[in-house]
Amino acid sequence: MKVKVKRFKEGRFEVSEFEVPVEGRPTLLEVLTKIKETQDPTLSFRVMCRASICGTCGVKLNGKPVLACNTRVEGEEILVEPLDFFEPIKDLVVSHDPIYESLKAKKVWLIPKEEKAGVSAQDLLKTSKSWDCILCGLCNSVCPPLLEKKPFGGPLLFTRLYKILEDPRNGSEEVLLKSSLESDPKACVHCSSCNIVCPKGCMPERWITLIETKLLQRGLIKKEEPQDFGFLGF
Ligand code: SF4
Ligand code: SF4
Ligand code: FES
Repeated sequence: MKVKVKRFKEGRFEVSEFEVPVEGRPTLLEVLTKIKETQDPTLSFRVMCRASICGTCGVKLNGKPVLACNTRVEGEEILVEPLDFFEPIKDLVVSHDPIYESLKAKKVWLIPKEEKAGVSAQDLLKTSKSWDCILCGLCNSVCPPLLEKKPFGGPLLFTRLYKILEDPRNGSEEVLLKSSLESDPKACVHCSSCNIVCPKGCMPERWITLIETKLLQRGLIKKEEPQDFGFLGF
């Protein structure tokens, strides 16, 4: 299999090509590891858990963001690139700092109402899927407003915000509503790209819609006025 790797080196991108003998359908991570072990020990990429849990190994495979550890490859040729949106550091490694900085800036963590506050299985079901987020950032890497550098929190942040906001143990609703407002859910264009690429089926766009509804119900944002089509004459 020919493996083309678009890598970031000394401030610019270049493409390296490797011929990798493969049997069956290895994971992309296995292919990258084989290149590193047998052909180019300088090739850099992220890996930790190898089990779709840590969220660190996101890259683009033939143009689509994937987790390298849970994506199988086949065919005669593949192209591997670093994720869009995130700042490249080296080869396929990008900086995940913006993820943690935004969660910290918007105070997205659970502050319990009371000591030993409990939660029922039914309550957890209400937010199920948002709990599965592994902070991989694949959703942010395809989000049009983020790619256009608009001041939008992005799908990852809203997925976390929803998870904590709807947790009955949480005692910081006002803080999180303010954070949601500041993250401008109305900037979402509802293209669903985040839902499509999420490797854990988290449906970020759904949580953005539900948070926007909550803000509307609280009177914190206003409903869009319908456009005036008076010129149509009816
Ligand atoms: S919502 Fe999905 S794609 Fe986005 S960071 Fe979480 S797991 Fe990754
Ligand atoms: S649905 Fe919204 S959050 Fe998701 S990728 Fe599109 S614009 Fe971004
Ligand atoms: S190595 Fe942890 S998610 Fe892929």
